[in-house]
Amino acid sequence: MDFRHQAIAPTGVVATAADALLVVIVAGAKGKADLPRALNAALQRALKQGDLALEGGRCLYLGAVSGVKAPRVVLAVAADASPRAVKAAFVAGLAQLKALGSRHLAVWLHGAGAVGAGHAEALTQAAGDAVYLYRHTKPSAGPAPKLGRVTLLCARADEASVAEGTKQGAAIAAGVKLARELANRPGNHCTPSQLAEQAQELARQMKLKVQVLGRKEIEQLGMGALLAVSQGSEQPPRFIVLGYQGAAASAPPVVLVGKGITFDSGGISIKPAAEMDEMKFDMGGAASVLGTLRAVAQLKPAINLVGLIAACENLPSGRAVKPGDVVTSLSGKTIEILNTDAEGRLILCDALSYAERLAPRAVVDIATLTGACVIALGHHRSGLFTPHDALAESLGRAGDAALDPCWRMPLDAEYDEALKTSFADVANVGPRAGGAITAAMFLKRFAAKLHWAHLDIAGTAWKTGANKGATGRPVGLLTHYVLEQARAA
Ligand code: BES
Ligand code: MN
Ligand code: ZN
Repeated sequence: MDFRHQAIAPTGVVATAADALLVVIVAGAKGKADLPRALNAALQRALKQGDLALEGGRCLYLGAVSGVKAPRVVLAVAADASPRAVKAAFVAGLAQLKALGSRHLAVWLHGAGAVGAGHAEALTQAAGDAVYLYRHTKPSAGPAPKLGRVTLLCARADEASVAEGTKQGAAIAAGVKLARELANRPGNHCTPSQLAEQAQELARQMKLKVQVLGRKEIEQLGMGALLAVSQGSEQPPRFIVLGYQGAAASAPPVVLVGKGITFDSGGISIKPAAEMDEMKFDMGGAASVLGTLRAVAQLKPAINLVGLIAACENLPSGRAVKPGDVVTSLSGKTIEILNTDAEGRLILCDALSYAERLAPRAVVDIATLTGACVIALGHHRSGLFTPHDALAESLGRAGDAALDPCWRMPLDAEYDEALKTSFADVANVGPRAGGAITAAMFLKRFAAKLHWAHLDIAGTAWKTGANKGATGRPVGLLTHYVLEQARAA
């Protein structure tokens, strides 16, 4: 997708050379930014006929409008001028357009006041999401939306920030697309080895450093927790290290750690059959790490970024780890695996210990970790866990700015009691209540030496139901965070 912007006077909007024009009308805007006469006439007619109301989310396809050069016009209403509300209008407008023959869409924001980077980024997200089509195991899907170019029209005064937002948004959209694509691939098309190949391909494309460790090397390192999860599967595990260098080699990196369970059956503590297919999405954290590296490598900020991905399958077999088994993690701590379905924290704890070697300035792990987080926060906000207030603020701000929000959850010492056991240094599960928090408390034990945060994306990494599919979240949040860190450095 080709994202552009163009400075234009309001009167020029009707003469724009695109084959579709999306006009977003901000409800209740009092600004004197006037709508060109032809568009205003069409709007007033639609309102009078009751075909459109000035309520957020409302949208109307008009086809050709006399006096407007673009052969298709769509009106969409935003509840207010915020990027969030305007994005909802973009999404509604794009839904009308994407099945049509339009190749080049021009977008005009009416009554928003200044058009800023946030609006431009919202448009790139909405358009990137709208045209993505999964084809890897369904080549017959389609036809692919023809829309290949989106131009945000803006006033001369807003041009600089719109250009900035468009550039940043285009990179994030490419990262989100990659994350969605990889997470959507079924477990037999995205094994740990295939995920590692994708990382190597990304490294080639974007000139990143990459290292892939196999079972032998993982054994030599002493990642006993990752090995325990992988041992039930015929597919060997992979530990992937990806590096983007945008600052001096000596500058401490930001490290992103992704949970890469390419299929989670639960293992011996097997899951119920219903919806088990969705556990192919259990590498959504890993996919978001790859997507973020993709976006960052395109934007080239002055910072060092390392992505770590622990990848394996969680399956039952005669060789699988059993409830009650005790394993030794890379940290040296022993873990009693009371429930083999709490596997994410096991592979992550070894990755966190590995991260210590990189002397990072901050470490953020991203994982589809607990069903309990879905119960707590639903599908809108990811769960954010960190003992560090400044890190919580940075990540919270990044999520808000990217329209990819998270919500901070507690980590009181009292929750740690649940992880005590007579048979090892730590148990891998506590009681059902507060399950997202005890999972984070488990990770916290392995992150004591790190400036660490954990994002539980179990509710946000994919959508269920008729539109089942990966969302690419939280690539937006993470990219914003990394860019902000680069500015702060
Ligand atoms: N990958 C799952 C978490 C999950 C479940 C995400 C459903 C999204 C939807 C994770 O490995 C898991 O199985 N967690 C268990 C932990 C429990 C055994 C303590 C869970 O949430 O049930
Ligand atoms: Mn599990
Ligand atoms: Zn899992």
